[in-house]
Amino acid sequence: MNYLIKGGKIVDPSQGFERIADILVVDGIIESIDPDSVPDGVETIDASGKLVFPGLVDIHVHAREPGEEYKETIETASMAAAAGGFTTIVTMANTKPPIDTADRVRFVYERAENASVHVYPVGAVSKELSGEQLAEMADMAESGAVAFSDDGNPIANPELMRNALAYADQLDLPILVHEVDPVLASGGQIHEGEAASISGLRGIPSQAETAMIFRDIELLKLSGGRLHIQHVTVEGSVELIRQAKLAGMAVTCEVTPHHLLLTDMDVVNSGFDSNFKVMPPLRSERDRQALLEALVDGTIDAIATDHAPHALHEKDNPFEIAPFGIVGLETALSLVWTNFVEKGIISPIRMVELMSTMPAKILELPAGSLAKGMVADITVFDPDARWVVKPENFYSRSRNTPFEGLELKGKVVLTMVAGEIVYKSQTV
Ligand code: DOR
Repeated sequence: MNYLIKGGKIVDPSQGFERIADILVVDGIIESIDPDSVPDGVETIDASGKLVFPGLVDIHVHAREPGEEYKETIETASMAAAAGGFTTIVTMANTKPPIDTADRVRFVYERAENASVHVYPVGAVSKELSGEQLAEMADMAESGAVAFSDDGNPIANPELMRNALAYADQLDLPILVHEVDPVLASGGQIHEGEAASISGLRGIPSQAETAMIFRDIELLKLSGGRLHIQHVTVEGSVELIRQAKLAGMAVTCEVTPHHLLLTDMDVVNSGFDSNFKVMPPLRSERDRQALLEALVDGTIDAIATDHAPHALHEKDNPFEIAPFGIVGLETALSLVWTNFVEKGIISPIRMVELMSTMPAKILELPAGSLAKGMVADITVFDPDARWVVKPENFYSRSRNTPFEGLELKGKVVLTMVAGEIVYKSQTV
């Protein structure tokens, strides 16, 4: 099927393009913008009053397959992604068993063959994510791993980290890092601050993050390579990354919607609802403000969800026992639109840059642009639609969101992947 997406406002940072135009999609490829003529048999999609942007790219998703299919599968994560406006997801290696061999990288690609969206696996940095011995990085790269990460676990051993950066550099792939010092954070449940004092729960100090980021920026000077810092949460981290960028280092970073929106006091106000339990933890209001500033000034390169599904029976436990994690694929875009674009903190084009163009660029994925000749991965978004977050309606197999019941503005109405409609809102 070929399509003409007609009359929408195209927002494409890759071409500095923000105006009303028609997009012609032929054989799964973007044929042209504002075509002079339209071939016969093309189906028209009326996008008037809507925004049309390159499909979103989430470089931080836990799809849980293999091993924890009761929480999520590659198929259900992909459906959730499509419903959230994402056309590409990058899946983390902390599955059971972890993605630490070439065979397992291929397994993810096989499971993703019929998925609604493009799925790219990350390979583990260390065997069994143990932090002791490097995994077979070159073989995984050859099988299509797009980056390396022990995400979920920090890389405690600096020598292993140095070698990983050097090997990844030879393979021309980045290392994605989960920066939480395991000793400083040991037994921690919540940000070390006001909420920890009120509750008596063991805190995770900001320095558990900044100390690791400082170390890895220093190691990068020794090894070369590319370092991408996942889910930054504190003011000090933003400052370190800002300085590293000013010095011209190959450092990028991401932030999650939940760290941009919530603080440790929201954990208290929720009555210690375990849906607010996440690693790294929700931080202070001062940290949140620093993240917002960095989002605006360009220090933060990308928004990623850290979609971390957990089953109800796991989350439905006292705060101290419940696992860390928040699902994000189906709420991210509307949360960002409602809270940051509608309020004038960032522009629509910056939003698309943060959620599509830049994440694609960081991992060198063929996405993030509506330029002629690109694969037709397209999100059509109604900026005026209002909806309420109802986890029972999620496509994800898990429902662990702190945003239940929140009214949001802006909703995905259609998601196209390689020229095929993979999601269409029922309200359209
Ligand atoms: O909250 C989290 N959950 N943070 C992580 O880094 C890992 C993730 C998970 O795998 O559940």
